[in-house]
Amino acid sequence: MKLPRRLRRFRATASIREMVQETRLHPSQLIAPLFVKEGSGQASIASMPGVKRFSIGELGAFCRRMENCGVRGVAIFPCVAPSKKDAAASEALNPNNLAIRAIRKVKLDAPRLLVFADIALDPYTAHGHDGLVNPATGEVDNDSTVEKLAEMAVLHAGAGADFVAPSDMMDGRVSAIRSALDNAGFTGTGILSYAIKYASSYYGPFRDAVGSKQAAGKMYLDKRSYQMNPANVREALLEAALDEDEGADMLMVKPAGLYLDVIAKLRGQTRLPIAAYQVSGEYAQICAAANMGWLDHDRAAWESVLAIRRAGADLILTYFAQKIAAQIERDNTPTTKIKAV
Ligand code: PBG
Repeated sequence: MKLPRRLRRFRATASIREMVQETRLHPSQLIAPLFVKEGSGQASIASMPGVKRFSIGELGAFCRRMENCGVRGVAIFPCVAPSKKDAAASEALNPNNLAIRAIRKVKLDAPRLLVFADIALDPYTAHGHDGLVNPATGEVDNDSTVEKLAEMAVLHAGAGADFVAPSDMMDGRVSAIRSALDNAGFTGTGILSYAIKYASSYYGPFRDAVGSKQAAGKMYLDKRSYQMNPANVREALLEAALDEDEGADMLMVKPAGLYLDVIAKLRGQTRLPIAAYQVSGEYAQICAAANMGWLDHDRAAWESVLAIRRAGADLILTYFAQKIAAQIERDNTPTTKIKAV
């Protein structure tokens, strides 16, 4: 048969496949979420197999492992004791709270690892919302929340965070945080804004991990008055443009895998680096299916992260960070190892 073009020629051997490969992963593109807890030891998280909550004393080993395999940073999430949560999220502004102690410890134990400090009130509020709730209306109040977030960002920058990462979706928080940081002398601290964060059902296992679900006493905490409607993409691009104008250094899309179109469109709009967060539910889904023998864990993990990169993300927050870094170390393109038959 004479064909004008046979694309299978690109796929004939591993050498050719690698040569024409368009997207590659590198550990410097990966950030590992890191859950920290009070007390001692480690605790597993039932809905996130292989992910642990570490006490401050146990952080060092994990962080050095990340540093050694080239993973570029950690995003710290504290699991705050219920007794420390209240309506005002007071513990968020305790200059010696769990997250702040964790930041200091990571900087001490693994100085090359970048630290991303999550800025949101949900680990600290008794109701589990990312903002302060007005008792009269029951609504999450934007402006009083933003004031708290700005103070919180300054404290976390002071502890040594390289980037603060507001994940709350309040309006105007990026500019408030930027000016608070600048006024406090932290002009070098960056802002990774969770610019486009959807009200997703895929955060369930994370809420288990940090205890915000228990705080809320509900299976599904409704955050739709501040997180975005999964149906919207134009609004997502507006969110990102606003955060860029307000001074964000990098823009995040979250979740990642279900919103690849949003990542790709944002790539066309901004010149800033784009981060994407492969969230707990995306991770848990792959683990659960692999556990049933229905998916190959390592290959599904690789493919899911590669797809996020292909869509246009420069940085990927993923619970698979260490696994992917190890796979890259073995072979940047494990799929090409499969012999052409
Ligand atoms: C909240 C926050 C959430 C995640 C990170 N920061 C979830 C939420 O809105 O409750 C989710 C991350 C994940 O699911 O892996 N500030």
